[in-house]
Amino acid sequence: MEEKILIIGSGGREYSMGRKFLEDSRIKKIYFCPGNGATQIIGENIFYKTTQELILFIQEKNINLVIIGPETPLVEGMSDALREAGIKVFGPSKKASQLEGSKAFMKDFVSRFKIPTATYLQTSNIAQAIDFIYKLTPPIVIKADGLCAGKGVIIAQNQQEAIETATQMLGGKSFGDAGKCIVIEEFLDGYELSVFALCDGKDYVLLPVCQDHKKLFNGDKGPNTGGMGAYAPTPLCDEVLIKKIKDRIIVPTLEGMLQENNPFEGILFAGIMVVKMNGGLEPFLLEFNVRFGDPECEVLLPLLKTPLLDLCYGVIEHRLNHFEIEIYQQYCLGVVIVSKDYPYKNSPPQVITIDNFDKKIGHLSFGGVNNKDNVLIADGGRILLCIGEGKSFQEARKNAYTLVDKVNFKGMTYRNDIGYKALEHQ
Ligand code: AMP
Ligand code: GLY
Repeated sequence: MEEKILIIGSGGREYSMGRKFLEDSRIKKIYFCPGNGATQIIGENIFYKTTQELILFIQEKNINLVIIGPETPLVEGMSDALREAGIKVFGPSKKASQLEGSKAFMKDFVSRFKIPTATYLQTSNIAQAIDFIYKLTPPIVIKADGLCAGKGVIIAQNQQEAIETATQMLGGKSFGDAGKCIVIEEFLDGYELSVFALCDGKDYVLLPVCQDHKKLFNGDKGPNTGGMGAYAPTPLCDEVLIKKIKDRIIVPTLEGMLQENNPFEGILFAGIMVVKMNGGLEPFLLEFNVRFGDPECEVLLPLLKTPLLDLCYGVIEHRLNHFEIEIYQQYCLGVVIVSKDYPYKNSPPQVITIDNFDKKIGHLSFGGVNNKDNVLIADGGRILLCIGEGKSFQEARKNAYTLVDKVNFKGMTYRNDIGYKALEHQ
């Protein structure tokens, strides 16, 4: 079998998938669409104007499998269009992608199936919103309904701020149409986990549990970002907690989606808040994403012993029942390096230099980079990820920061406390 793969997307997540596929001798060629300046080194970048044009390209090149990385094409229905053309696609349908595409859909779904989540109100009406805000104790969480690249969630510290935020969102001022319907919810106080389940509609396989770091500054301070670093597996999730997450969140979601004739086939990413209650740890669902997380993907893939290709086909061919996934007994920790003005605005492009390093300690994964005569240029927000591997969490962390020291570009910024909660735990 000789496979040709097409990966849709342009971030570190897509680069790391390509990198993982390259380990597999069955894979002959990897295309990225549109890719970035580093994916063009490990594969071939392609561009298209319409989905029809893309379908023709896939058929012409006899591409065996398409993987859709980001949420926007999934929510817009790219997987359905490709499937209808007879193409094998890893990625859920447009209908199932509403779990991420609409917070209102997601909250209604989870309340129908009694999945634990924060108490909430979904509304487009400001009077209703204000009424509900007065019923909650601050802080109060206000979310735009649609896709906002991880930035559509505001945590208001008092009722006045919550009312102002709700008024702005509903008026279309802060997030355009994505904010014309909002979800207001109680604040959950705890720590977050990223849980990934590969799902074939009926059965699922769980990947090692990760922790992301969404805030820009050390100590989880500052604005939310797309993610400043992640590691896996995390010691903050034991078997008891994993069982609760499976039984109360993953299984009811798969069953509920199937029951509503909307089976979920792809990777389900549950953002979980773990809250200390009654002397135990209780998981609450914050959000669903319908794709691999970024930067979680970059730290999860090196842990997979089972080839990624087998996992993708396991999902597409509905073979996850009794599927045995093999995981390397090691840790991975990734530190994201962002440009100077991230996440506020774009920074001027900068040449990246990378000193030699021992490949045994880890690797780099590239997101916001261009390529000028084989020189990588930082040109975006999240530029690259330094991924340390190790037999222990501490070793992986040390290796990741050793890699950070090998990278240089003007204005580079990163957190130096990635994984601090795991360190505190030990
Ligand atoms: P979401 O896009 O819904 O995951 O929200 C983005 C981030 O906002 C989450 O990762 C949390 O850090 C925070 N957040 C969202 N909802 C809540 C909540 N109900 N309580 C506390 N923090 C929240
Ligand atoms: N790491 C969070 C996300 O991909 O949305």
